[in-house]
Amino acid sequence: MRENEIITVRIESFSNLGFGVAHHDGMAVFVENACPGDVVEVKIEKVHKTYANAVTKTIITSSEHRIKPVCPLQKVCGACQLGFIDYDYQLELKHQNVKDVMKKIGGLDVVVNAPIPSSQKYNYRHKIQYPVSQTKNSGRILAGYYKPKTHDIVNIKYCPVQPEICDEIIEFIREKAFDYAIKGYVEKAHSGDLRHVVLRVSADSGKILVTLVVNATQTFKALRDFAKCIFDEFDCVAGVCVNFNPKKTNVIMGEKTECVCGKDYVIERILGKTFKIGANTFFQVNPKSAENIFKYVKDYISSNFKLPMVLDAYSGVSAFGITVSDIAKHVVCVEENKDACELAHEIARENKVKNIEINNMDAGKFFAQEKRKFDVVILDPPRSGCTEESLDNAFKVCSGKIIYVSCNPATLARDLKYLKDKGCKITETIQPFDMFPQTYHIENVAIIEV
Ligand SMILES: C[S@@+](CC[C@H](N)C(=O)[O-])C[C@H]1O[C@@H](n2cnc3c(N)ncnc32)[C@H](O)[C@@H]1O
Repeated sequence: MRENEIITVRIESFSNLGFGVAHHDGMAVFVENACPGDVVEVKIEKVHKTYANAVTKTIITSSEHRIKPVCPLQKVCGACQLGFIDYDYQLELKHQNVKDVMKKIGGLDVVVNAPIPSSQKYNYRHKIQYPVSQTKNSGRILAGYYKPKTHDIVNIKYCPVQPEICDEIIEFIREKAFDYAIKGYVEKAHSGDLRHVVLRVSADSGKILVTLVVNATQTFKALRDFAKCIFDEFDCVAGVCVNFNPKKTNVIMGEKTECVCGKDYVIERILGKTFKIGANTFFQVNPKSAENIFKYVKDYISSNFKLPMVLDAYSGVSAFGITVSDIAKHVVCVEENKDACELAHEIARENKVKNIEINNMDAGKFFAQEKRKFDVVILDPPRSGCTEESLDNAFKVCSGKIIYVSCNPATLARDLKYLKDKGCKITETIQPFDMFPQTYHIENVAIIEV
């Protein structure tokens, strides 16, 4: 097999990163935009030692699960990689992937339940971060996701996975930025004003916080007028903030944010508790589907423990801690992000939660120095999972169950294997939750007895 070669393959299975998998010349071929059951003509893009990457050129026989994508840019943009597959089959493929990963990476013989679907197949994304640039000649604003593997912006006018009003707001920003002489950011030259547009939408109220990330250290008149014009145009916009990011970096947000109009947050509601979400607050992207996970965790704790001591680790704004506080004796949270901890204190106060303690530190270090024992330890780490050191210590401070919430099945399987080798038991079936329809992503909850 060589690069640029055109071959015909039958897609046999689906990878955990959303590619169709075929075999050719004894090698696995990972094919973009292909689904099991397809026979496709593909172009080989890269040949590695044991596998190759390819892109679909022509569909010779179509899988019965192919649909016409709702978005005309589905193949170019990457935001809805699985948008050409019907939703029920997406869930089947994700279910199979979780089972495969548990076996292959974790060597685990565990039961994996069918995923709990998202109540919304589209319009579910409540955090939108579009990079911004401008056209070379006319200087018109471009805003949208990067084309996969590039920094070329796909100028997205319509995105089916986010609330429709967001398309309108972003189109308004494109047009008005030009009128107010706000320039789009040019990455290579590190020039221009507007780098990113970030929208935080409350699934509860429909209110939206708009943040303009700019290549500047302070606001200027045209920028303030531009922000006010966005605020005045849309009743649903709760506030417009400016975030200053003058550095040459791929990190989206700078350290300082200033509220120019209205409020600098929106309110989300989960299991009867209210959460303030600011420009840069970590919060679940699909709040309605996330509520299913919070409920699952809370129901599990209340049916198995009476007023337990709960440790919520990698706690963000303490969403798990606060939602389980009324069934717990005491809740201890640990989170390394200072802003998230400050906001967690405020959220706890506003919800009149008194039995909570919030620690701003590295989770691993916290577990290592902690002397108390917890009936329940909730672990909800980033995609990279937990370190071995942090698992060793988490397991020492737990006297009952670890509830591991994960957005990456591969690191979950690795960490479960590590805990199992230490003598822990995975006591319940693994429960996947689909929070990201039209993408290969899947969240899982595993329950472990120490
Ligand atoms: C997947 S989020 C979970 C947040 C929260 N549980 C929720 O549902 O909203 C992971 C969180 O872990 C935090 N984090 C990452 N590494 C950490 C570490 N070593 N120690 C403590 N917190 C960490 C991140 O800042 C982020 O808030």
